[in-house]
Amino acid sequence: MYRLTDEQKAKVKELLSQMTLDEKIGQMNQESVSIVGGFDVPFEELIEMMTDGRITQDEFEKIMSTAEQDYHEDDIRAGLVGSLMVQDPEKCNELQKIAVEESRLGIPLMFGLDVIHGYRTVYPIAIAEAGAFEPELFERTARMAAKESRTQGVNWHFAPMLDVARDARWGRVSEGPGEDPYLVSQFAKAKIRGLQGDMSSTENYVAACLKHYVAYGACESGRDYNTVSMANSMLYNAYLPPFKAAVEEGAATVMASFNDLNGVPCTVNEFTLRHILKDSWQFPGFVVSDANAIRECVSHGIAADEAEAGVEAANAGMDIDMGTQIYKKTLKQSVEDGKVPMSVIDEAVERILSVKMWLGLFEHPYVPQEAMKRYEVLPKEHTDLAREAAEKSIVLLKNDGGILPLGKGQKISLAGQLADNREEIIGAWAMSWRPDDCVSIRQGLENAGAEFEYFSCCGPEAEINEEDVEKACAYGDVIVAVVGELDSMSGEASSRADITIPGKQQEMLKRFLATGKPVVAVLMNGRPLALKWEAENVPAILECWHLGVQMGNAVANVLLGNKVPEGKLASSFPAVTGMCPIYYNHPSTGRPGGRSKFTSRYLDAGFEALYPFGYGLSYTTFTYDGLEAADAGDSLAVTVGVTNTGDSAGVETVQLYMQDVTASIVRPVKELKGFAKVSLAPGEKKQVSLTLNKKDMGFYKDSGEYVLEDGLFRVYVGGNSKDCLMKEITLTF
Ligand code: BGC
Repeated sequence: MYRLTDEQKAKVKELLSQMTLDEKIGQMNQESVSIVGGFDVPFEELIEMMTDGRITQDEFEKIMSTAEQDYHEDDIRAGLVGSLMVQDPEKCNELQKIAVEESRLGIPLMFGLDVIHGYRTVYPIAIAEAGAFEPELFERTARMAAKESRTQGVNWHFAPMLDVARDARWGRVSEGPGEDPYLVSQFAKAKIRGLQGDMSSTENYVAACLKHYVAYGACESGRDYNTVSMANSMLYNAYLPPFKAAVEEGAATVMASFNDLNGVPCTVNEFTLRHILKDSWQFPGFVVSDANAIRECVSHGIAADEAEAGVEAANAGMDIDMGTQIYKKTLKQSVEDGKVPMSVIDEAVERILSVKMWLGLFEHPYVPQEAMKRYEVLPKEHTDLAREAAEKSIVLLKNDGGILPLGKGQKISLAGQLADNREEIIGAWAMSWRPDDCVSIRQGLENAGAEFEYFSCCGPEAEINEEDVEKACAYGDVIVAVVGELDSMSGEASSRADITIPGKQQEMLKRFLATGKPVVAVLMNGRPLALKWEAENVPAILECWHLGVQMGNAVANVLLGNKVPEGKLASSFPAVTGMCPIYYNHPSTGRPGGRSKFTSRYLDAGFEALYPFGYGLSYTTFTYDGLEAADAGDSLAVTVGVTNTGDSAGVETVQLYMQDVTASIVRPVKELKGFAKVSLAPGEKKQVSLTLNKKDMGFYKDSGEYVLEDGLFRVYVGGNSKDCLMKEITLTF
């Protein structure tokens, strides 16, 4: 929990009182390692050249690789840099030494990095791990990541990513825990506990950074960086709750998002930054801009020049400028001109120094040499956790005729380039992993002793290799085709307008199906895909996402039945791309989708998700009965019977939803309010109890006021958001 003692607070105040305006602004300046030499234009212009297409990404990367790196040593010495993005522990120590020993006041630096789903040990992408419906697991993976990175100098994670994301075209759906505000909130809190919770030593925790504040996930048409318009009630009810939950859990920092919200870029948004975050929620930490975002306010057309953008950002409550040097270059003049009050600067710097104090950087600024080597060889504990998380994230979408698990003695044709790749399993936003730690699916099957042959056949961007396909068709009793997206097809700046399986991979599947042999599609992807054709034609589909370093072992274990799948979808899968955005908890319409033409539906795609939120099969089956919802004072006591009706042991995620049927504004058709995982032996039945706190049954009005309104409620319980038992209850609060 990010909180300072009175003594620490006093130290911060004392330090602040000694600082010059330049030094204060220095703390508000975050630098990335700049690239110098090798080209004739400044780095910023080079980025612009790439963004506007004057040079290609390949050309950009070539230039970067020949350039030298500038770590801003002189500025650090002069107290003009507060934080940096650096990945090398020796370098961190070297720069820290300049800050601590050579700058006038010796204020240590913070080193930030995008550690989204693991540092050296990479875990599943967040949208996948959310499907484990196990926040405690997310807490454990976060804690490991904190420890690994802090011993490498990184003391600030630009995570968790908490953008409720409902449009699978948006590439960044991969980075967050899905479409549901409640689920994302549970995972948000878990991540904060994981990253910040073990303060027994400064080597065990880092500062979390909640991003991207706010509503970035609602970018119009799923196109990255695009505009966002929404009613305040939607903002308060769907997009703010995860941030609020994480602030309450004690998160230390927040990153503002690139998008504008109702006409005001979130970088300069006084309403979201000051009014909601700092005033109403009393967030005590600091806010950093997203990379280059203050400059982008000029492109947004709401600031005439960089200096004006800097003024607007600072006054709105933006404490740190990531990467533009606009604060560094213009803020002093703006203060002297009276455009930014000194109190704004002091507040920002007090917040920044406080986080540094809490991180223990004043007493322990350096990474001990011994700690740097601690995870040189990945400890078994870390790889075990990576495998556990990967296994629990896998979702069985379809299993006609019980093709899975594969039987003993069955010969497997393993097909698809993605099956033999140990880099594409990692997923977007991971940068500190090593190829040697990564287990491909091919390697995983080998480790598990499966009888199989591998045939490359086709990949997301490759043509079909006819010879390979023929061999794959001939060899196995069963064909396991690994198909999906490259990891560069999701993440930032990776929106897709067509979210079917890319390239010729579907063609490859058709060829396999034509043999009449059982075919299993193993999906590797960073977003929900539109799987109408696959759902209609391929008998078994296993959603495996990008599962991180242990992906191969996890997938092999599930395919072979050493692990029974238990993952559920944290995001709805549309049948076709044109249904996006699609999410289970949409507001009620006057004409709910149905069979009649004049209901809210598509002529060519109906109205329901192909695979809804919360959906996922097992190798066994579960039935639900006897739902009860009893008024228990401050809460509803909800109970349901769950029976394992199949022949293998399994784990089921029992999900509790509610609907406010008579409210003063339109409310969602269903809202997740709780869940519980239960393990059941074959034939076993358990009574599962869930609590629905009455205080959580309200909603926010447009004004931001939270209300509980008397009336009729529906309580739903089931194994996914669609197939539920239901009870009605009338409540007076
Ligand atoms: C992304 C952020 C990230 C930052 C720093 C930006 O482009 O939007 O999520 O934290 O870069 O790498």
